[in-house]
Amino acid sequence: MLILGIETSCDETACAIVRSCDNRFEVLSSVVSSQIKFHAPWGGVVPNLAARKHLENILPVIQKALKKARIAPKDIDLVAVTQGPGLIPALLVGTQTAKAFSYLWQKPLLGIHHIEGHIYANFIGGKIDVSSKIQSPKSKQKTTLNFPLLCLVVSGGHTQLVFMKKHLHYEIIGQTVDDAAGEAFDKVARILGLGYPGGPAIAQKAKLKMKNEKFKIKLPRPMLNSNNFNFSFSGLKTAVLYETQKHPQLLKNNEYIATISREFQQSVVEVLVKKTIAAAKKYGVKTIMLAGGVSANKELRRQLTQSVRKNFSDIACQMPRAEYSLDNAVMIALAAFFRWEKNKEKKTFQNKIKNNWKNFDTQSNLTLK
Ligand code: KG4
Ligand code: ZN
Repeated sequence: MLILGIETSCDETACAIVRSCDNRFEVLSSVVSSQIKFHAPWGGVVPNLAARKHLENILPVIQKALKKARIAPKDIDLVAVTQGPGLIPALLVGTQTAKAFSYLWQKPLLGIHHIEGHIYANFIGGKIDVSSKIQSPKSKQKTTLNFPLLCLVVSGGHTQLVFMKKHLHYEIIGQTVDDAAGEAFDKVARILGLGYPGGPAIAQKAKLKMKNEKFKIKLPRPMLNSNNFNFSFSGLKTAVLYETQKHPQLLKNNEYIATISREFQQSVVEVLVKKTIAAAKKYGVKTIMLAGGVSANKELRRQLTQSVRKNFSDIACQMPRAEYSLDNAVMIALAAFFRWEKNKEKKTFQNKIKNNWKNFDTQSNLTLK
């Protein structure tokens, strides 16, 4: 089965062609055109500028993906597109293009939740068993990803702990009450004058080695000991702001920026890891997964892996490959494949996806269900 995936929810125009064959999922092409340099001067993503760039990019990106995969439109079996959540002007470019192709090529169309895509980025390249489990993409590891599983979703718009009893079944057991983790990285980077996107910039500064730490900075660990699985990062951002306002001249000092970046990153990582471990214990999960753009953060990956090993002897810890941590269209196609496998025998489903080109709504606040 050949699936064409499209993703335009934020500042990446992406298209991928994937094939499922012998219970294995093969990526034939994955094209991602990033708009970061156009948004960087504004310190964040400007929705209408994003839409304009998506409009310029979408057809060349799709054409490139088809060409790389050596696939003609007539060979495609299913078109999948991010339906939401995201920036509405950006999403509309992807969904309208997908609808046009679905109508023109007479192919079924499936709308996918962006976060479902991020979660399924963990399954890329794996051996697929849609009923229960998959083998880790790195087959040498032979990690079996058993359910129930817990996924820590950390992106620019979301911070959630998602409990999954089985494929495509989501229960949000905790989430941020204000800013998302990625949003906090971006806002703090702006305060520190590090530009956009903030996550990689802060991670880079935090890596800086110093002979002796000249500056002593202690930031809060918000909601670390709260009696639930919720998060809050807005106060942490304000704490960084107050700290820098105390001595604005130090914003030009590289060592100071490195120290505060490291402390901020450590605060976020510590809270995320501690809550994930506590939730995994309470819910008795067999697998812990990481998803979303912030899953590219090496310290988060390292400390979560270490903590899972320390706390459990029998829990698999799975993370997407770095190239699939950030927005891409492979994850959208893969989520669509699982949805297709689950529902393909149902007549109502087949009818629905056949008519989606005229029926489905693009939704900026689509919920995960
Ligand atoms: O998933 P994503 O690409 O887009 C959304 O769905 O929001 O996530 C983007 C977010 C941005 O906030 C960016 O700063 C953050 O992921 N990010 C990182 C890193 N790379 C990207 N945060 C921390 N460390 C990183 N290495
Ligand atoms: Zn994303």
